[in-house]
Amino acid sequence: MIAARVFVSLVALATASAAAPASAADAPRGATACAICHPSKTGVDTPLQPLSGRKAADIIAAMQEFKADRRPATVMNRIAKGFSDAELQAIAEWWAEQQP
Ligand code: HEC
Repeated sequence: MIAARVFVSLVALATASAAAPASAADAPRGATACAICHPSKTGVDTPLQPLSGRKAADIIAAMQEFKADRRPATVMNRIAKGFSDAELQAIAEWWAEQQP
């Protein structure tokens, strides 16, 4: 599946990315890949909101809606489907702890 392969490449890129938050070494699998598209800090010129410092419950709610195709999406539906509920929980909690 092409989308899955692209995402695996994104994960590999993000792991090496200097833009990832300082504690990227502790990040759960897949979490730093979000920062390829979502800024890790505010003040970046992009229509996407940063994930850092957001409530974990809000991130999880959005990811579950993407996963169930209940929220309009171009890529997030495919990304959300690549993670188990436990992985999404870990990723959301990790982003909630990052400084915006
Ligand atoms: C390939 C680029 C890309 C990656 C990687 C990505 N996102 Fe997104 N994200 C988007 C886009 C684009 C949207 C807007 C909805 C859409 O078009 O799919 C979005 C929307 C969202 C939203 C809802 C809007 C908001 O800011 O509340 C959340 C939450 C979100 N993404 C979380 C994540 C998480 C968590 C990850 C990592 C597991 C991630 N995204 C990885 C591109 C990306």
